[in-house]
Parts: sequence; structure tokens; C-alpha cells
Amino acid sequence: MRSSTTNKKPILELKNVSKIYSLGETKVHALDNVSLKIYPGEFISITGPSGSGKSTLMHIIGLLDQPTKGKVLIGQKPTQHLNEGQLAVTRNKQIGFVFQQFNLLSKTTALENVELPLFYSDTLEKDRKTIAAEFLKKVGLEDRLDHHPNQLSGGQQQRVAIARALVNSPTLIMADEPTGNLDSKSGNQIIQLIKQIWKEGNTVILVTHDPELAKVAKRKIRIVDGQIKSDYQT
Ligand SMILES: Nc1ncnc2c1ncn2[C@@H]1O[C@H](COP(=O)(O)OP(=O)(O)OP(=O)(O)O)[C@@H](O)[C@H]1O
Ligand SMILES: [Mg+2]
Repeated sequence: MRSSTTNKKPILELKNVSKIYSLGETKVHALDNVSLKIYPGEFISITGPSGSGKSTLMHIIGLLDQPTKGKVLIGQKPTQHLNEGQLAVTRNKQIGFVFQQFNLLSKTTALENVELPLFYSDTLEKDRKTIAAEFLKKVGLEDRLDHHPNQLSGGQQQRVAIARALVNSPTLIMADEPTGNLDSKSGNQIIQLIKQIWKEGNTVILVTHDPELAKVAKRKIRIVDGQIKSDYQT
């Protein structure tokens, strides 16, 4: 099925992952025995009805949440024994997140938002601003370094979030509905930007309801009721 990638090792693997949320007597099977391998350089979209488990899957892949059953391996290494601190370090190094709500810090500038992940990596203090500015330039915001999020348009805020996701050169870029809060024009700019980031050699996985965005992905995974219903290359 994946002829171009079968000789590569996965950068991330889920083995028989289930996630059950318990709320009192009620149990929600948000993910049901999901197995998945992500290979370097892939561009994956995840689609499915509301409530099917897409965000839950993203949280587990991104080490923001732990499965109830099953395993998550990053570069062949198991993650279930890592403590909170080790998980945070792994996340910071390996994964760049982009969310529907942008999740920028409102009281800091675009430059400071992008600089933030560098505080938790090994980057020297004197280099941080220069690197953050380079990434803002890459997303076309070199003239907005000192703007606060509320002084930027939605599309610009999402570009800051993308620069922040890229700044540590993570193994995997994850985006959950990155165009969900944008008008079609800014959404389209974000789609083009994500496509360009993938073409530069990054691995991208995104959740989307946006058919235009799902269309640009090369591997399409569909989730229904917490299970993978289809998974194919285009
Ligand atoms: N923290 C939680 N506690 C209890 N149930 C939860 C929790 N988070 C999600 N769920 C439930 O798990 C299921 C999957 O939710 P999830 O957010 O993964 O869906 P989704 O596919 O991302 O939906 P949408 O397209 O609406 O964003 C839903 O039935 C939801 O109600
Ligand atoms: Mg969701």
C-alpha cells in the first residue's frame, strides 16, 4: 500500500490504542483499538464526523494525553513510562502544534510567542530572537514582529502559531482544524503555507473538516466511531 515508504522506519507508531473517558457511570470509547504508523515526509489528513475521535487521536499522537490501552512509540521508543517532565521535553523537541484557536499568549509579541519553545530547548539565549525572527519571516510576518495577537488578523495569528510550531525543527507538525476559524482567503493562505512546509521535507498530520485542506494531503485517514475506517495514499 505504501510502496514509497515501506523501506523507511516510522517516526511514530500507535499500537492497539484505545481511549476510554469515564464520566461517572458513563464510559465513552473515544478511540477503539487504533494502530497507525507515521513515516518521515508524510502529509496525512484525518477526517471524520464530529465526535469520532479525531482530536483525541491528535492528543495521543502529540503526547498531550495517554491512551487507556495500547502503546505510543516515537522513533521506536516507547513513551508510556515517561513522566510529565520527560513527556514535556519530548513534545517540545519532537512535535510542533497548530490549533484551531491559535493558542498564542495574548500579552506577548509575535516574536516572543515564536521564541518561547526555544527557551525549553538547548538554544543559546543570544540566538533565540534571531531564529524566531527568521521563522516569522518564513511565514511572511517580518514586519509584524512586535505586534500582539490582538493586533493581528486571524490568518496572521495562525501564521505566528505555525512559525512557533516550526521553530524547534520538530519531527512532526500536527494541526487540528488549522483553517477552522479563518475566512476562505486566509484559510487558503494557511493551506498553501502548510503545503510548502511539507514540501520542504517536514512530516505533517492534520485534522480537518475543510475539503480543500484534506485534498492537498497525500495520505487520507478517515475515522468513524473511534476506529480507522479507511487509510489510503493518493
Ligand atoms: N475529556 C473528555 N471527557 C469525556 N469525554 C470526552 C472528552 N474529550 C472527548 N470526549 C468524547 O470523546 C469522543 C471523541 O471526541 P473528539 O474530541 O476526539 O472528537 P472529534 O472527532 O475531534 O470531534 P470534532 O470534529 O467535533 O472536533 C466524543 O464523543 C466526546 O464527547
Ligand atoms: Mg476535534
